[in-house]
Amino acid sequence: MKKIFNVGLIGCGHIAETYFRAHKYFNNFKIIKCADINTKAAEICAKTYKIESLSVKQILKDKDIDIILNLTIPSAHYSISKKAILNGKHVYSEKPLATNFNEGKKLIRLAKQKKLFIGNAPDTFLGGGSQKAKELIDKNTIGKIKFGNAIFAYPGIQSYHPNPEPWFAKNEGGPVIDMGPYYLTALVNLLGPVDNVFSQSLKNTKKRIIGIGPRKGKIIKVECPTTYFSTLSFKNKTIIRLTLSFDVISHLRNHIELYGEKGSMVVPDPNMFGGSVLISKKMNSNWKNYKTNKTLLGKINIRSQSLRANESPTNANYRGAGLSEMIYSIQNKKMHRCNGDLSLHVLNVIDSIHKSAKSRKKIKILTQCKKPKYFTKKEINSIIK
Ligand SMILES: NC(=O)c1ccc[n+]([C@@H]2O[C@H](COP(=O)([O-])OP(=O)(O)OC[C@H]3O[C@@H](n4cnc5c(N)ncnc54)[C@H](O)[C@@H]3O)[C@@H](O)[C@H]2O)c1
Repeated sequence: MKKIFNVGLIGCGHIAETYFRAHKYFNNFKIIKCADINTKAAEICAKTYKIESLSVKQILKDKDIDIILNLTIPSAHYSISKKAILNGKHVYSEKPLATNFNEGKKLIRLAKQKKLFIGNAPDTFLGGGSQKAKELIDKNTIGKIKFGNAIFAYPGIQSYHPNPEPWFAKNEGGPVIDMGPYYLTALVNLLGPVDNVFSQSLKNTKKRIIGIGPRKGKIIKVECPTTYFSTLSFKNKTIIRLTLSFDVISHLRNHIELYGEKGSMVVPDPNMFGGSVLISKKMNSNWKNYKTNKTLLGKINIRSQSLRANESPTNANYRGAGLSEMIYSIQNKKMHRCNGDLSLHVLNVIDSIHKSAKSRKKIKILTQCKKPKYFTKKEINSIIK
C-alpha cells in the first residue's frame, strides 16, 4: 500500500493552520486539496498552502483523495463525516464526533458497514505528557487510583473569537462539548471507560459581548448552561469530580489531579501534548517532576504564540498525530488509537452529563470502549519524520 495518503481538508478556519504544520512532523500524509462552505476561506487557504481549492461537493467525490479531514464547526461534523464515508473516504474529524449521541452512533455504524476508518480528535492524549502519566500509572507508581479532580475553567471564548455564537448556542454550545473531549479522552486513556455520571449546571449570564473582530461590541445570547460540575464513576471504581466552566475569571488549580493508594499525581494539560507529570508519595514531600520536553511528542515546538488561544510557546502541539497514527493503522490493518469507539464513548459521556444536569439523575453509560494502549517510542518513530 502507498506510503503517503492524500488528504482533502473541509473547513478552512482557525485550526487548519495547525494541521498544515503537521506536515513538518509526520511522514504519511499530505493535505492536497481544500474546501469550505465559505468559498473565499477555501481560496485563501489554497493560496497560502499552494494547494487546490474545490467545492465541498467536488472534494467529497475527488478520486485523488484518500481521507477527508473534517475541520468544520461541531454542528457540521456529522453531515460532513457522513458524506465522506458515503463517498468511500476514510474520515478524521476534529472533536467532538458529532453534537449529539444518536448522530455519533449512526456515524460509527456507517463507517463499520462500509469498512472505512473513522478517527476523531482529540489526539493530545498521544502526547508526551499524557503518555508519561499513563506509563507511571501502568507501572503502579501511585497505586490504585481512588479518586481525583479535573478542571477546565476560564471566562469564555467571546473576548478573542470573532464568531463565538456556537459556543453559547442551545444544542451545540457549552463547556462540556467544547472542552469535555480533551478531559474525558485523557481520563479514559488513563483510567478506562466511564460507568455512570451525575451532573449539575449553572447559567450565569444571559448575554455576552463579542470582544474582537468586525462585530466587536455586539451582544450575543447565551442559550446554554456555561458551568457544569460532574461526578464521573469509572468502571475501575475511580471517582473523578470534573468542573467545566466558561464563568471563571481566574484560578490556580491543576488540570487533572489523581489520588492513589501510594501517592498523588498531577497530570499535564490535556489540551496540549507536553508538560510535566508531578508525583508526591509522602505528605508535604517535594513533588517529583517527570519532564516530557525531551520525548518525541512532548518537545516544545511552538516558538511564537499564534492568534489561537490554545497555543503557548511553552508547550508542545502535535495535532495531526491522531490522523497520522490512523493512516499507519490503515496500512498495517490494526485499530487506531483515536478510534470511533473511544470518541463515541466520550460523546456518550458528554450527552449524559447534559442529560443528568437537566434531569438531576445519575445516568449509566451504555457504550464500551477499550482503554487505548501505551503509544510506544517504536510506533511514534514509524510515523514521524
Ligand atoms: N480553534 C481552536 O483553537 C481549536 C482547537 C482544537 C480544536 N478545534 C476544533 O476544530 C474545529 C474547527 O474549529 P475552528 O476554530 O477552526 O473553527 P472556525 O469557525 O474558525 O472554522 C470552521 C470552518 O468550517 C467552515 N464550515 C462550517 N460549516 C461547514 C460546512 N457545512 N461545510 C464546509 N465548511 C463548513 C466554516 O466556514 C469555517 O471556515 C471545531 O470542531 C473545534 O472544536 C479548534
